[in-house]
Amino acid sequence: MIQPYQNFLGKVLIDSDALQTRIRELAAEIDRDYEGQDLLLICILRGGVVFLVDLMRHLQTPHQVDFMAIASYGVGARQSSGTVRLSLDLQTDIRGRNVLLVEDIIDSGHTLSYVLEFLGTRHPKSLRVCTLLDKVERREVDIPIHYRGFAIPNEFVFGYGLDMDEYYRNLPFIGVVDLEKYVPPEP
Ligand code: IMP
Ligand code: MG
Repeated sequence: MIQPYQNFLGKVLIDSDALQTRIRELAAEIDRDYEGQDLLLICILRGGVVFLVDLMRHLQTPHQVDFMAIASYGVGARQSSGTVRLSLDLQTDIRGRNVLLVEDIIDSGHTLSYVLEFLGTRHPKSLRVCTLLDKVERREVDIPIHYRGFAIPNEFVFGYGLDMDEYYRNLPFIGVVDLEKYVPPEP
């Protein structure tokens, strides 16, 4: 049995209305910056998909989307291992394109630092980062963030794309996990 999230929800950190309001603002900013230009959104699976889809629905700028996946966390681990590898490559040639990376959360920064370096070798015209959440205190490598939804404290969060053992991504809010109450699913 997968336990209901209410069992381990410490508190709602960002509710659904606040998320949607901020995402509309981010979309307006992006529209201003890319007016008249071609745009390719790249989403890093899987945490970023919920944010990506809501952001897309508010964007007026015509754009394409593509996906890539990175393995950076050990199974069940709650810390970035620092070792990152590509597990799913893009289908799109990004050479000469305006690329905007859409991420759920930046923590240590290792994942994004790897992705930015890797994408840079494919010579996009421009390469920017849009992250919904930024755990500022945890940063270990410097990352240029062009669009940031919310700076959040150093707490483990879930919902709105972010998972606990791959569950609860569907929740419409960002919640803080009470790790003392969280029981991982049985294997
Ligand atoms: P980084 O390489 O340390 O920046 O880790 C970034 C990735 O770690 C994110 O894309 C998330 O998948 C995951 N992550 C970091 N913090 C959290 C959290 O509080 N909840 C859920 N996932 C997280
Ligand atoms: Mg992620």
